[in-house]
Amino acid sequence: MMKCFMIFKDKSKSRERRSAPELSNKRNSDNLGSNRVSKSTGSASSPRGITEMYKEKEQNLRVFSVSELREATKDFNRLLKIGEGGFGSVYKGTIRPPNGQGDSMVVAIKKLNTQGLQGHKQWVAEVQFLGVLDHPKLVKLLGYCALDGERGIQRLLVYEYMPNKSLEDHLFGRAMPTIPWGTRLRIILGAAQGMAYLHEGLEVQVIYRDFKSSNVLLDKDFNPKLSDFGLAREGPTGGRTHVSTAPVGTRGYAAPEYIETGHLTIKSDIWSFGVVLYEILTGRRTLEIKLPKMEQKLLDWVKHFPADSKRFNMIMDHRLQNQYSLTAARRIAKLADSCLNKNAKDRPAMSEVVEILKQAIQDSEEGTSSYVSSPQSSRTNLSASYKPASYKPVSRLEVTNTGRETARRVRA
Ligand SMILES: Nc1ncnc2c1ncn2[C@@H]1O[C@H](COP(=O)(O)OP(=O)(O)OP(=O)(O)O)[C@@H](O)[C@H]1O
Ligand SMILES: [Mg+2]
Repeated sequence: MMKCFMIFKDKSKSRERRSAPELSNKRNSDNLGSNRVSKSTGSASSPRGITEMYKEKEQNLRVFSVSELREATKDFNRLLKIGEGGFGSVYKGTIRPPNGQGDSMVVAIKKLNTQGLQGHKQWVAEVQFLGVLDHPKLVKLLGYCALDGERGIQRLLVYEYMPNKSLEDHLFGRAMPTIPWGTRLRIILGAAQGMAYLHEGLEVQVIYRDFKSSNVLLDKDFNPKLSDFGLAREGPTGGRTHVSTAPVGTRGYAAPEYIETGHLTIKSDIWSFGVVLYEILTGRRTLEIKLPKMEQKLLDWVKHFPADSKRFNMIMDHRLQNQYSLTAARRIAKLADSCLNKNAKDRPAMSEVVEILKQAIQDSEEGTSSYVSSPQSSRTNLSASYKPASYKPVSRLEVTNTGRETARRVRA
């Protein structure tokens, strides 16, 4: 749950301010089109957009009533609350089958804070994108609930339940057992496959815009699934090189050129992917204010330990207790560096990332000889240098209200 930021430039602000779409139980899909970026008018031959694709698939989503979801969560009982993000709270719930027959189903229900237009817009985007996208590495949206009542609007989303929480929880959560090396690689490969589908596997290009470890959810077998499509955008069409938008995202993950110019491309996602690769290697957050100054910014700190250098292994997560393949780790660090190329064009495509991660998995599986040292010696190392207290997440210390609605505006 990192702090999100928004940088509004006057031009984009006026362009994006629209009347709130009224998505009600009667499913007015025209209104769901409101999140689209204004772009040049497409020709007759241009590919279908997400809105058109959504119209064909919207019947796959179940429309829930508020009372159904109240019942599912025992009136949003706080004991059933499983998470809290910038959008609102997430509850574990049990829903009855649509026709009343068959088994009940355990789900995750996200209840949005919808005090403003931005939150609602993101809710619409989430319904639209997840209504269309269909891939084993993306979380499944089962349905939604929208109510515009006298006491304000209510917006809820119902997802398949992911029992192992998020990658963030495991990498940084002190209460969680650490995820072993092999599992880390499988998780990041799955996440890469999910993103390759978004970038390269559809009629339209989808820019995810919110890739971070808290959005990689884990199922019962630790298979990863990408979640949170509220910030997703269709890629540029009609020969354009980028989509122009007010930069929105999470601090620490957004690509520098996107923050500076608002020009969004799939290469911005690749940058964020590079950041998460380093999180996986080091077990550190993008910002750790409790560490010595030199070590606070993850991307600056790792530069002192190049992938080919002898000192490289010093950045590796101590919680791995040296149980990792150094060859694979170096390969992944090099991959991360290429994702974090200042020049967006020089970053690899997601399908290339997938291939390199597969090679890293192969490196790791090729015998234990490349594993760093015995667990015995590493345990000594662990107790000497691993200080769990220093892993306290920065954003949680700083942020009292993480709502995207109230997110600090960095630049007016
Ligand atoms: N489908 C799900 N199944 C199980 N747990 C979930 C599910 N969706 C979300 N969660 C839990 O709720 C937490 C909060 O999720 P949410 O997406 O609201 O916020 P976030 O990703 O942590 O932060 P942000 O709002 O800044 O993106 C997740 O980290 C996860 O632990
Ligand atoms: Mg999330």
